[in-house]
Amino acid sequence: MSIRIFPLDARAAEARLPELATVLADAVENGASVNFMAGLTLEDAAGFWRRQLPGLADGEKQLLVAEEGGVIVGTILLMLAQQPNAPHRAEIGKMLVQSSQRRRGLGRRLLAAAESAARGAGRTLLMLDTESGSAGEHLYKACGWTEFGRVPDHSHKPDGPLAETTFFYKRL
Ligand SMILES: CC(C)(COP(=O)(O)OP(=O)(O)OC[C@H]1O[C@@H](n2cnc3c(N)ncnc32)[C@H](O)[C@@H]1OP(=O)(O)O)[C@@H](O)C(=O)NCCC(=O)NCCS
Repeated sequence: MSIRIFPLDARAAEARLPELATVLADAVENGASVNFMAGLTLEDAAGFWRRQLPGLADGEKQLLVAEEGGVIVGTILLMLAQQPNAPHRAEIGKMLVQSSQRRRGLGRRLLAAAESAARGAGRTLLMLDTESGSAGEHLYKACGWTEFGRVPDHSHKPDGPLAETTFFYKRL
């Protein structure tokens, strides 16, 4: 089945909150360190996405999704820096691929689409962070991102223990 990658505006994202929530809850359930602890409910996951809607509506954020068979199976959030001294910078978040769909190149495609969207928004420097040793770290290295540091005990893993986080940047 063919996969489509495309942006969702605030209205479309609102209509698809249950699918977005499913992707986020699946990632947490499978141990991904993406700001949430284990046991994230679909309702709380939908709440996270609902809180992104104002940013999507006013252009501070862009959401891109991967869709297969009419269902969202991956997400990536581009957050455009709003500080007056950083009109060239943006941050990447919620790089998520449904656990059943991994290692098929979706992560790479979503990341490339977000980088292209960032360029389109006039951004030339991207930043992100991820749990050290995670699939994300491998993905970012494979996609030409530069590691610039590691912080021990930065965040709790979903199941409790503290873990190190690795920080990356990429010039576009
Ligand atoms: C990180 C994540 C988005 C990768 O998505 P994906 O669709 O599986 O990634 P791709 O298939 O595009 O992989 C591209 C490359 O990244 C690297 N990579 C991805 N997952 C990897 C893994 N588990 N182990 C080692 N390398 C990996 C490989 O180099 C891979 O290329 P290859 O398959 O040709 O070897 C996915 O594992 C995920 O959603 N994880 C949970 C959420 C998360 O941790 N997100 C990042 C937090 S910021």
